[in-house]
Amino acid sequence: MSEPQRQVFVCQNCTCLSRQADEILATFETADLPDDVEIVPSGCLGQCNMGANARIVPEETWYCRLTPEDVEQIVEQHLKGGERVQEKLHPRIHMQFSL
Ligand code: FES
Repeated sequence: MSEPQRQVFVCQNCTCLSRQADEILATFETADLPDDVEIVPSGCLGQCNMGANARIVPEETWYCRLTPEDVEQIVEQHLKGGERVQEKLHPRIHMQFSL
């Protein structure tokens, strides 16, 4: 097994916990992850109003308003497939504007 190169920080602070962050963490931890990915429970990521939140480093992808049901798509499409899940990106951090 290779050393983890990417870390997924899953917020476990109070606001995110009130929005199923514990289930989100558990779903990530039991997913079939690529060898280079490590799941890390984290403290507050400073984006409580958008929770539940997760931050992927070093690439700096921020996902918000997550539910446990979003995890499979993030694992398959992003962590395995290399393509961010656009609809779950944090809109201010990723500056998504709709015209
Ligand atoms: S409680 Fe999760 S970002 Fe603050």
